[in-house]
Amino acid sequence: MANITYVEHDGTRHEVEVANGLTVMEGARTNNIPGIVAECGGACACSTCHVYLDEAWIEGVPAKDDMETEMLDFASEPDLVRSRLTCQIEVTDALNGLIVHIPENQF
Ligand code: FES
Repeated sequence: MANITYVEHDGTRHEVEVANGLTVMEGARTNNIPGIVAECGGACACSTCHVYLDEAWIEGVPAKDDMETEMLDFASEPDLVRSRLTCQIEVTDALNGLIVHIPENQF
């Protein structure tokens, strides 16, 4: 279980508990958090589950693989360091306190 804070582009914060084994994307959808579209349902094929990691968490989240890196090229305004696809981040206790920032647009 991890406490995760999703911050909308306008600054609205959603702090929720997400079970281990879910992805950060599934945690957002389960809790009806707006702004994470996840059009492909988590198959790493759409890039509409894009977020920016909070600065404090850049080192704390397991590194992205090649598939995620390539798909991030299609994200709206990706940042080389902070951008991640939430469907590719599995929740574990180690992510307790994670903060992610949702971009203004996913397309
Ligand atoms: Fe489509 Fe993450 S949900 S890439």
